[in-house]
Amino acid sequence: MDAFLDVFGQTTIAAARSADGTLGPRVLDVGCGCGQTTLQLAAAAGPGGAVLGLDISEPLIDVARRRAGAAGSDSADSAVVDFTAADAQTVDPATLRAGPGREPGFDLVFSRFGVMFFDDPVAAFTRLREVAASRGDSAARGGRLAFACWQETARNPWLTVPNRAAMEVVEFPPRTDGAADPFAFGDPAFVRDLLSTTGWRDVALAPFETEVAVLGGGTAEATAPILMQLGVADDAIAAGAAAGTESAAALAERVEAAVAAALRPYEVDGAVRMPAAAWIVTAQA
Ligand SMILES: C[S@@+](CC[C@H](N)C(=O)[O-])C[C@H]1O[C@@H](n2cnc3c(N)ncnc32)[C@H](O)[C@@H]1O
Repeated sequence: MDAFLDVFGQTTIAAARSADGTLGPRVLDVGCGCGQTTLQLAAAAGPGGAVLGLDISEPLIDVARRRAGAAGSDSADSAVVDFTAADAQTVDPATLRAGPGREPGFDLVFSRFGVMFFDDPVAAFTRLREVAASRGDSAARGGRLAFACWQETARNPWLTVPNRAAMEVVEFPPRTDGAADPFAFGDPAFVRDLLSTTGWRDVALAPFETEVAVLGGGTAEATAPILMQLGVADDAIAAGAAAGTESAAALAERVEAAVAAALRPYEVDGAVRMPAAAWIVTAQA
């Protein structure tokens, strides 16, 4: 997954740099997952900086901490790295502190695909603005926001093609309101409205469209089981097994075969390659 998402993170880091090319010494990585971008941000922020990775998932934060330890993130060339398990929607901004002095406030609030899953995005972005409001180039200018989110589903066949293939085999239950949706920020008007409602200024969305080696660049046969492990059809398979005569395992096998067949036309030199489209969103606190 990290290799698949890397180009989006690097593009967002580039967009996050201020006019003098720096990231600002203090960075918050929201929905940091296993911490790949947190470590990249620490390297980019450099010595004297502090980067805090925040994620709602304790197990992912544990992985991120181990990864940072293994990578020697306390090296003299890098910013100090720390992680916290917290919900961005309910966390008290004053408790988000980083660096040896445990200071509050961040020059940059960053995320690679970690901000589209909030039930209450207004609560989350209000808090995120609060942590950035006290920082920045001068008293008049607060810290910055830079995040990557997916554009609409139609522009992201890397997920819609396997989904459609799975739907040929099992019936998907109707979406419930509030279900986690990676494409929740696909509509630029929604993103602009959310950010201006929560006090962010100078909001800009830059399209970033590329072709990606899906989920690390294996063959169709290797990529289909990874998509299955990510749970693309779990609910549909469980519902199908409960309603019908076929076991969940048998249904899953048929779905995986259908997904692999749908991906095969996109295989080039042994890797499934497909278009993917994100927004790189920037704003000022
Ligand atoms: C698609 S993953 C992206 C992970 C990471 N940024 C990356 O690029 O590898 C989304 C992440 O957002 C986290 N997340 C979802 N809701 C959250 C919340 N309310 N507060 C903090 N993190 C959240 C998830 O646990 C998950 O790690």
